[in-house]
Amino acid sequence: MTATNGIVDKLDELVNTDTGELDRRIFSDEEIFDLEMERIFGRAWLFLCHESQIPKRGDFFEAPMGRDNVLVVRQRDGGIKALVNTCTHRGNAVCRAEEGNVRNFMCTYHGWTFDLAGELVGVPGMKEFYNDELDKSKYPLRKVAQLDTYKGFVFATMDPEAPPLAEFLGRTGRIGLDQIAERGDVEVVPGIQKFVLNTNWKFPVDNTFDYYHPQITHISAQAVGMIPSAADNIDGGGAKTPEGKDLAVQRLRTDTESVVMLAEYGHAISGPTFEALVSVVPPSSRGVFAWRERPEAIAALGPVGQMVGGHPHIFPNTWITVGAQLSLRVPRSATVTEVWWFNFRNRDDTPENQRAQLQRQIHMFGPAGFLEQEDGENWSQSTLQTLGGVARDIPQLLKMGLGRGKIIHEDGVARIEAPVNEHAQLWTYLAWKEWLKRPSWEQLRDNTTPGEHL
Ligand code: FES
Ligand code: FE
Repeated sequence: MTATNGIVDKLDELVNTDTGELDRRIFSDEEIFDLEMERIFGRAWLFLCHESQIPKRGDFFEAPMGRDNVLVVRQRDGGIKALVNTCTHRGNAVCRAEEGNVRNFMCTYHGWTFDLAGELVGVPGMKEFYNDELDKSKYPLRKVAQLDTYKGFVFATMDPEAPPLAEFLGRTGRIGLDQIAERGDVEVVPGIQKFVLNTNWKFPVDNTFDYYHPQITHISAQAVGMIPSAADNIDGGGAKTPEGKDLAVQRLRTDTESVVMLAEYGHAISGPTFEALVSVVPPSSRGVFAWRERPEAIAALGPVGQMVGGHPHIFPNTWITVGAQLSLRVPRSATVTEVWWFNFRNRDDTPENQRAQLQRQIHMFGPAGFLEQEDGENWSQSTLQTLGGVARDIPQLLKMGLGRGKIIHEDGVARIEAPVNEHAQLWTYLAWKEWLKRPSWEQLRDNTTPGEHL
């Protein structure tokens, strides 16, 4: 299947990065969704899992890659392979479990059996029904085109032409993953949290960078003390800025220090600087940032990476939080998205600290997370409104800071220093358009290389 050129020709109308106006159809059109599956999820390096989830021979974890599902499997020799979870006989999934440990994968339809490397090793009735004529070596499970890891984070791509992972991630993507990796000896807490939202996947992705919504959307999270609020301060109990201002008002102030990092292929980091973030965290809670003092972390992040207090996002759908969590926004259809959460902990942390961190994580984001339930309501409503006969003709606006972003190039990173803005969202859609337009990796990279201005 190839993309319809009709849509490709219209992309500049659908996403106008000069005016900051988007056509709402990009959030519910099935043809556009098909094109995304082919040209974005069919080509990009996608996060699959963390090595700590599959430590032993035969351990596996099922991960989505577009409409395919792959089994990430620890091999006999300690290596990792990712096998497409579809039987080469007549297509049934060869594994129904989401994770586990196996000696081999036996298809539950007719019993064809594949080893950990995906080789077909067993065919019931080989002699009686196939007359020993079936060449098993011709029907292994299909593998991803390329697989690689960065500090324990496993990625793969279905495109043999894709550049190496390190190049794809670039300095900005690596700084994003370092926000977890440089905490020390980290592992994923067993049990990946997954839930479904009736939203187009791009709403949760662009919301990653949205620091305009918390003081309104998350007002109930403030009311119950989940995040600091103005009311807390009136009662004298909440977090304040060094100047004694309450946090909620601080978030609306135009002089809040924010930094936006933009990178090739659409990666971005956006939000408050680390200094601004720390200034609104009570001193008694600042221990969660101690990892940043590790010499290894200082070296890996460098001066630019140490500025990050906001949200890194690796295009197309991987978000890293400041609380050692990683989320995948998994598109299932134009209007349905699964949200997956991987919670990390330090192996050498005390059980009490590990428990406390997990409590913070799952109460913040995920199916029991306060913030994402509030966000999810907005995303579902926004998606629904892209279907209305009148509503869909009203453009989506990303005009905040438009044309005012002066890009500074330093230490391999392009950044804009600005108050709350929509630069990173605009960058995401600019890159999204380029992914759909450019079959050539070289052109894609060139057209998503930050210039001097946004
Ligand atoms: Fe798997 Fe037939 S479909 S054995
Ligand atoms: Fe939110």
